Amino acid sequence: MTPTNGRRPEVDQPQLALFELATHPVPAAPRRRRPSSAPADPTEHTRRVAAAVDAAWRREHGSGTELHIPTSVVAALALIAQADPDGPDLADQVTALDPNALGRLLHHIWRSFMLTRGDLAVRVAPLVAWLHQGPSDTQLTGAHAVARAALDAGQLHLTGHPDRRHATDLFGELLQLMRGPKVAASRGAYYTPPGAADALTHIVGVADAAPGASIADPAAGTGILLLSAARRLREHGKDPADFRWYGNDIDELAAACLAVNDHLWGLGTSVFIAATDGLNPDWHRQAVADRATGSDIARAARAVEAVNALTRRAA
Ligand SMILES: C[S@@+](CC[C@H](N)C(=O)[O-])C[C@H]1O[C@@H](n2cnc3c(N)ncnc32)[C@H](O)[C@@H]1O
Repeated sequence: MTPTNGRRPEVDQPQLALFELATHPVPAAPRRRRPSSAPADPTEHTRRVAAAVDAAWRREHGSGTELHIPTSVVAALALIAQADPDGPDLADQVTALDPNALGRLLHHIWRSFMLTRGDLAVRVAPLVAWLHQGPSDTQLTGAHAVARAALDAGQLHLTGHPDRRHATDLFGELLQLMRGPKVAASRGAYYTPPGAADALTHIVGVADAAPGASIADPAAGTGILLLSAARRLREHGKDPADFRWYGNDIDELAAACLAVNDHLWGLGTSVFIAATDGLNPDWHRQAVADRATGSDIARAARAVEAVNALTRRAA
């Protein structure tokens, strides 16, 4: 990970608000909040959610296969928030959905995310493709079991909480658990433990970086070092969104998780992520190109939506 001073790029400004479920039709549920029985420590909380998801996916689908599906479900749930503080509990609303309705909700969340964060759209595509391809009943049943398990383990109290969301890498924990030690070892994908990541960002002097500086990790995994860097900047009164963030991983699923994490961690809109060989010194150019491609597609899609809305109003 390297902080370097650099110029802030010209970027289109996507809205950063987390998505709300307000516009999506869901069955009525009692007007009460689910009490949080989550562990006080965010790391423990993260482990509990990851373990529940891993167990649900193994039970429904077998181990080690189609891991993009449970990851996609957890990531989509991380992108929604309670729309109405006095309304029905969000976890209850989602839990009440049947597998097909959950599939439609996931599709809706991802579509909204890709339109809003076009800059990350190319990177999150591995989490979205299965929904576009017409998911099988088996996939939807597995996704449904994962969503229930994640919600019952209190995921929304983790990813829906502003401080907790910034404190942890749920996807790093999840990928390592679901892949198991043998696969992780074969991919060289043992992620740095949070304490060691904090020590490393201290050593490289992230706290001294000036706004506009670039912070990069060419083999980022799901981004634990970038998270540590963001935390250190915040501790020093700096806003991570004022910096440029470059990340890459040869593993497309890890890079997709990194993209979602960068959004959840509030790293701003100067985020460039590639999924290529980090030994290639040009990896960051790939990140810039992919970002531009996603932004262009999202801009065109938003324009089409605006025209469709006008046409509907005129009809
Ligand atoms: C040991 S992990 C470290 C991840 C993260 N930087 C951390 O500290 O937790 C190594 C990561 O490098 C990735 N990786 C391995 N070879 C790579 C390559 N040639 N280019 C980019 N990433 C690579 C793996 O997929 C894995 O996610």
